[in-house]
Amino acid sequence: MEHKRITARDVLSKTVSFPSDEAQARLSHLVGLDGHIKALTRDLRLIFDPQMVDAWSKRHYRSLLPVAELVKDAVPLIIFEGDVGTGKTALAETIGQQIAIDGDYGVHLVKMSTRVRGTGYVGEMGTLLAESFKHIEGIWAKEAEPIIFVIDEADSLLTARASEQHHHEDKSGVNTILQHLDEFRRSAAQIGVIAITNRVGILDPAVRRRATSVFKFERPNEHQRHELLQRLFDSALSDEDISLLVTASNPKTDGSEVRIPLTYSDLTLRFAIPAIREAAWRDGKLDAQSLAKALEFLVPTPCMSDLVG
Ligand SMILES: Nc1ncnc2c1ncn2[C@@H]1O[C@H](COP(=O)(O)OP(=O)(O)O)[C@@H](O)[C@H]1O
Ligand SMILES: [Mg+2]
Repeated sequence: MEHKRITARDVLSKTVSFPSDEAQARLSHLVGLDGHIKALTRDLRLIFDPQMVDAWSKRHYRSLLPVAELVKDAVPLIIFEGDVGTGKTALAETIGQQIAIDGDYGVHLVKMSTRVRGTGYVGEMGTLLAESFKHIEGIWAKEAEPIIFVIDEADSLLTARASEQHHHEDKSGVNTILQHLDEFRRSAAQIGVIAITNRVGILDPAVRRRATSVFKFERPNEHQRHELLQRLFDSALSDEDISLLVTASNPKTDGSEVRIPLTYSDLTLRFAIPAIREAAWRDGKLDAQSLAKALEFLVPTPCMSDLVG
């Protein structure tokens, strides 16, 4: 039987364009990511407009510093790493809004979503990526505006795994992506890539070294949980109620061992949304005591690395 090959069409999203009100709303709901948003805006804008570095160099030193050339040489790749549910996808999908506002130009987003697992698939990955990059260059040729290409669940592209059969490192995924990005760097196309992994500490050293930057995403601390709950429930709960919920959401201790904290998505998708559904269905107000109880029993999403390890 003939094996039906997966094509770029199967794994690429529709193009999303910024600025948009919807993206603005989503971006402004994110908690604890202000630092990331700032640094990411800087990195992406400099990827899109490398002449900003030239202009800076000439303005302040009246010449093109050699180090400015180095900056332009960097691979237009940004890595997001962190546990499931810490806002990586949410930020990658909305940062275009900040760039569009900041740079006062249109920005476009294409997302590649594929859970690339197993060695056989990595072989096809080369063709798939080549097709995807071609598609994206086509969009750039048409729009002549910056494009953010998000590769979600990109573990196999960012890791050099020791292959069991061959006892040597399988670098095909890593090499494929670095090669393509190298070509991007040399072309005039304004394309920045965000590659996302849910596993921490698995990055291939070559990728880590050559990427423009690596952003680490964490589970929310007490202050961030407070802010998130406040934003979610707004006027429905008093400050006292929110504080009660924050306490209830503290990491549990297991004997002397402190267990892992809840993730942003635990608090949003597994706590707040079910709570609203329940209240709406019974057509009554939210009750802080039962909300706190629900939080006490909410089991945090385990760490990805623990699961796979
Ligand atoms: N920093 C955050 N602030 C507010 N909500 C968040 C944040 N991070 C995640 N969420 C919520 O959790 C959901 C899942 O997050 P997501 O971005 O898919 O996590 P990841 O990609 O890191 O696994 C989001 O759609 C959002 O509702
Ligand atoms: Mg995600």
